[in-house]
Amino acid sequence: MAMEFGRVMTFSPSRNLCIITLCIMSNSTVISLHSSLHVNLEENGLQEIDVADSIPISQYPINFSTAEEGRLNLQHKVIKRIFESLVVAPVTFLPQDQVLDSGTGSGIWLLELAREIPESMKMYGMDINTSLFPTKFPSNIEFSVASADKLPSHWTDTFTFVNQRLLMTAISQQQWGNALSEIYRVLSPGGWVQLCEYSIKASLTGALTAKFLSTLQTMHRHRGFDPDLVDHLPAMLSAAGFADVDFQERSTPMGIWAGDVGVEGKECFLKAYRSMKIPIMQEGDAGAFNSEEEYDQYIDNIEKEWDGNPRQRGVFVTFIARKPSN
Ligand SMILES: C[S@@+](CC[C@H](N)C(=O)[O-])C[C@H]1O[C@@H](n2cnc3c(N)ncnc32)[C@H](O)[C@@H]1O
Repeated sequence: MAMEFGRVMTFSPSRNLCIITLCIMSNSTVISLHSSLHVNLEENGLQEIDVADSIPISQYPINFSTAEEGRLNLQHKVIKRIFESLVVAPVTFLPQDQVLDSGTGSGIWLLELAREIPESMKMYGMDINTSLFPTKFPSNIEFSVASADKLPSHWTDTFTFVNQRLLMTAISQQQWGNALSEIYRVLSPGGWVQLCEYSIKASLTGALTAKFLSTLQTMHRHRGFDPDLVDHLPAMLSAAGFADVDFQERSTPMGIWAGDVGVEGKECFLKAYRSMKIPIMQEGDAGAFNSEEEYDQYIDNIEKEWDGNPRQRGVFVTFIARKPSN
C-alpha cells in the first residue's frame, strides 16, 4: 500500500489558533499521527501551541472529505431524534461541572449541549483529526488533539460526564479495554460515561443488505475492529470498573416509506457506506466488488431495497455507566 508523508494545517480564526501536525496518509485515511511540534507562527498573527506528543496508530476507515462534516451532522440529527435527548444518562449538570466529548468530529454534540447547560461549565472536545473542528464556538468549549486510548495525564478525575459516540470503526478490539480505562481515569468519582454505537447485525433484512453487511463485518475484522461491539460493551464497561451499566437500543426507519424521517435515516447509513468504499473494497469479502462503479451501483440498489421494505431499520445503542463515588 503506497504511503506518503503529508502536512496538515488547521486554523481556527475565532480562537487565533493554528495547529500543524505531521501525518502518514494512505488512501485519505490517517493511519498514524506522531509529533512533538512546537509551532511559533506569531509573525502570521497566530499563537504558539503544542501538539500532542504521541498519538497511536488509528485504522479509521472514513476519509475526512468536505462531505464528512455534513454526514456527521445528519447522523447526529438522527441519533438525537431517536434517543430524544443529547444526554441519556441520569445527570443534572452543576455550574462547576466539566464535560468531555471523545472523538468529537465536527463537535456538533458539544455545540448543541452548550445551549442547554450553564455557561460557566467547561466543555472539551478531542479527536485525532482537527479538520472537522468548528471555527466558531462558545468560549467555554475547547478543542484539542488526543487519542481516545491515551488521554492527557492531567485530566485524571476531571469530568462529570464523558460522551463518546461512534468510535466502533476507530478503536480496535484490542484498544477498547484501554480506551474505557482512560475514560474511567478522567471521570471524577460518581461521574457518568455515555457511549453510543451502531449495531451491524440488527440491520440485516433484504438479501442485498445482508450480503453488504457481511462484507462490512469482514472489513471490520480485517482492521481489528469488533463488528459485534454492542454485544460486548456492557461486560467491557464492568471489567473497566464501572457501576450501574445500562443501555438503550433505539432504531430509525430507513426508507422513503417513512417520509422525511425515513429518508434521513437511510441517508445516514448510506453516506457512511459510501465513505468507506475503498476500505470495504480492499478489505471486505474477496471479490464482493470488482470496481468502484460496481460498488456505487450496489449501494444505489441497497437504497432501492430499503425503499421497498417497510421493516428496514437502522439500530443505535447508547450505553451508560458510572464511576463509583469511592
Ligand atoms: C464516526 S465519527 C463520530 C464523530 C462524533 N463523535 C459524532 O458522533 O458526531 C468518529 C470520529 O472519531 C475520530 N477518531 C478516530 N480515531 C480516534 C482515536 N483514536 N481517538 C479519538 N478520536 C478518534 C475520527 O477522527 C472521527 O472524528
